[in-house]
Amino acid sequence: MIEKVMVSIIMLTAVFARPQNSTPQNSREATILRYENENIGKSGYNFAYETSDGTSRLETAEVVNPGTENETLLIRGTVTWIAPDGQQYTITYTADKDGYQPKGSHIPQ
Ligand SMILES: *[C@@H]1O[C@H](CO)[C@@H](O)[C@H](O)[C@H]1NC(C)=O
Repeated sequence: MIEKVMVSIIMLTAVFARPQNSTPQNSREATILRYENENIGKSGYNFAYETSDGTSRLETAEVVNPGTENETLLIRGTVTWIAPDGQQYTITYTADKDGYQPKGSHIPQ
């Protein structure tokens, strides 16, 4: 019993002693700063959110060629986050009949 308590105390110490990462706020404690979501189930959707750890994402989708055999979604989006290396990364993407196409300064073309 006492051994279990000691192990628990050592583990708690390890958790609290962990170095803070370099993001503005630890991701585990991130709060939602903004959240929007519009989706009525037809003609596309859009959503956006931003959290206090420097993450944000927005995405819009529109129906292309509605009512035809080639009806499809055209999705455009952006996601930004601060990685453990302290750098901010952004990916801008489209997703449509030709697949998912991400672009970012850190992604080889
Ligand atoms: C749908 O796409 C195919 C392939 O591009 C094309 O041949 C066809 O004419 C299109 N159909 C309509 C209704 O536009």
